[in-house]
Amino acid sequence: MTKIAVWCRHTQDNVIGIGPHIPWKISSDFKRFRRITENKSLIAGEKTYESFPNRTLPNRKIYVLTFNPKYKVSDEQNHFVISDIEEFRDMEEELYIAGGASIYKAFMGGGEGLIPDVVVDSMYKGDLNANLKGKKVDITPCINILKEKYICVSPEYEEDSIITTVWVKKGDFVDQAVIKHIFKAIENNGEK
Ligand SMILES: NC(=O)c1ccc[n+]([C@@H]2O[C@H](COP(=O)([O-])OP(=O)(O)OC[C@H]3O[C@@H](n4cnc5c(N)ncnc54)[C@H](OP(=O)(O)O)[C@@H]3O)[C@@H](O)[C@H]2O)c1
Repeated sequence: MTKIAVWCRHTQDNVIGIGPHIPWKISSDFKRFRRITENKSLIAGEKTYESFPNRTLPNRKIYVLTFNPKYKVSDEQNHFVISDIEEFRDMEEELYIAGGASIYKAFMGGGEGLIPDVVVDSMYKGDLNANLKGKKVDITPCINILKEKYICVSPEYEEDSIITTVWVKKGDFVDQAVIKHIFKAIENNGEK
């Protein structure tokens, strides 16, 4: 089934995080992510999952990737621990890959069955939050793969210094309902 990676990176250096934080606070960025992923299934690495408010995101099923099979999620009805990424390879489910960097890298470099069919690439043009302490986390290898293996199928949508484009893996047939959903979610920017 279709796999979709959704990220927002900083222009030029491809930074997506500093320590556990996203180094910009732009509400339309969170809203776009919510519209794309609401009522869908997400995959999040353990660090990203821990960074969600109360370790949850409403109205979403979350697969938490951790090497610790005994990891305790915050909501056992809707969140599930996966310790082997291979389990996703043949999963018959529409899956939204929500980071962080190690998860994007594992899927983008994972070959047939793991590499996302679609990437929603948002790029922030403003300054990083200079007050944050911690290591900068970037996804440059993913951007190199994006440029080599994908084609852009959307216009550039710009909102609050963030440019969003949609990319499809070259040669892939992508479910048009998925593409339609993503375009609608990006374009619905009149939402409060
Ligand atoms: N801007 C954006 O779009 C965006 C989106 C999401 C996250 N972020 C940022 O990204 C940063 C976090 O990224 P990160 O790379 O440090 O952490 P991460 O990918 O969120 O989580 C890393 C953890 O995931 C588990 N993991 C990784 N690969 C695995 C595999 N192949 N199989 C099983 N488990 C695996 C491990 O958990 P265990 O150690 O428990 O085994 C690992 O420590 C934060 O700064 C966050 O704010 C940004």
